[in-house]
Amino acid sequence: MNISIIGSGYVGLVTGACFAELGNKVICADNDVKKIANLTKGIVPIYEPGLEEVIKLNLKNKRLKFTSSIKSAVKSSEVIFIAVGTPALENGEADLTGIENVARTIAQNMDGYRVIVEKSTVPVETCAWVKKTISTYIKKGHKFDVVSNPEFLREGSAINDFTHPDRIILGVESAKAKQIMSSLYQPLNRPILVTNIKSAELIKHASNAFLATKISFINAISRICDKVGADVKEVAEGMGLDSRIGRHFLHAGIGYGGSCFPKDLEAFISIAEKLGYDFEILKAVRDANEEQKKFVLQKIKDELWIIKDKTIAVLGLAFKPNTDDLRNAPSIDLIRSLIQEGAKVKVYDPKAMDKAKEFLKDAVFCKDLYQAGSSADCLIVATEWNEFKEMDFAKLKKSLKRPLIVDARNIYDPKFLKAKGFTYIGVGRGNE
Ligand code: UGA
Repeated sequence: MNISIIGSGYVGLVTGACFAELGNKVICADNDVKKIANLTKGIVPIYEPGLEEVIKLNLKNKRLKFTSSIKSAVKSSEVIFIAVGTPALENGEADLTGIENVARTIAQNMDGYRVIVEKSTVPVETCAWVKKTISTYIKKGHKFDVVSNPEFLREGSAINDFTHPDRIILGVESAKAKQIMSSLYQPLNRPILVTNIKSAELIKHASNAFLATKISFINAISRICDKVGADVKEVAEGMGLDSRIGRHFLHAGIGYGGSCFPKDLEAFISIAEKLGYDFEILKAVRDANEEQKKFVLQKIKDELWIIKDKTIAVLGLAFKPNTDDLRNAPSIDLIRSLIQEGAKVKVYDPKAMDKAKEFLKDAVFCKDLYQAGSSADCLIVATEWNEFKEMDFAKLKKSLKRPLIVDARNIYDPKFLKAKGFTYIGVGRGNE
């Protein structure tokens, strides 16, 4: 099929590259001319395992093209995905300006039937607005269908998530659109759920909100664990074995971050408010997450007493492993608070250093974890990179001023570290 993806950000790039890999002819469009020039040469602006290889291969096969002309992308494709950003406005609502602009451009340039697919995370009823916008600006009465096809990719495992999704959601309102979209996804051989458009839009926000709720819930349990001397990892394992609950998204830690959960939660709370419903559960989830970030700082203070003039190593900057994405990364808030209180903060991350240097001006950037740990009064693990799980503890211990590890992601066995001579502080590991 000839398809185009408007918006070459995270979702757009992964979707475009993977559809090309499945044998389609794909055009990825973006109005960022420099980004497009780089992508045409195979230079990918984000770190995502496997993505660069898939892009390069499909550029070579001529199944994937990049353009800064949305107009030409619209002209040559039957299916058009909208994957532009929907950043948060000050009041938490999603800014849909980009979507409206693209819808208008599509309408003004289509020269035959088109399926317009909403892929960006958007509030319920956005497809209805896209449809209205296209109907308003369309020339010659060409026919079109609007589809909601929300994305469930996780950063760090996006290629695998695209090729092996638990489900594909298609919100449609015509048999023709259903047939075209189903055949596009058919090669993946994964379950497809066809719904009405508004249900599909809600499935996306409801899923992210539910996952965030699981995280805040287990973080709350971790607080009780600390008070009574239980281990939240054991509690989560015991809960997760119940198939009704499931094991995933029950890892207690420093709180969730990233470009999705915080933004989507705010947007969902704000949509509900507009619809006349006070989404109190989600407000509590959000507040518990903010609280959790501060709680880790409090744990450090409880151990070090005075932060001023202490040297603190922070391992991990990205909001999760296998990405260089720093958006809403809990590590950044923590580092800023530590610096504000007068600490010297030494940082290391396997992939996110360059991006972090742009805005963490007062931190000391180190070449590896041992250099970060050198002469530190405390070492904090803020992102669970594999590299940190497999470190040489004897080497680290020698270089630390004080053998104190704050494991904000619960990646270590407290007994193992204590046996190696470290003071261990985890999240909900029973050490209030
Ligand atoms: C999330 C969803 O998982 C995807 O399904 C969705 O497509 C995506 O948002 C989106 O809307 O675009 P992502 O933000 O890439 O994906 O990352 P997650 O793996 O979901 O992690 C989000 C945050 O939750 C991270 O900060 C992570 O450290 C934290 N987390 C996750 C926990 O603290 N505990 C857990 O048990 C799981």
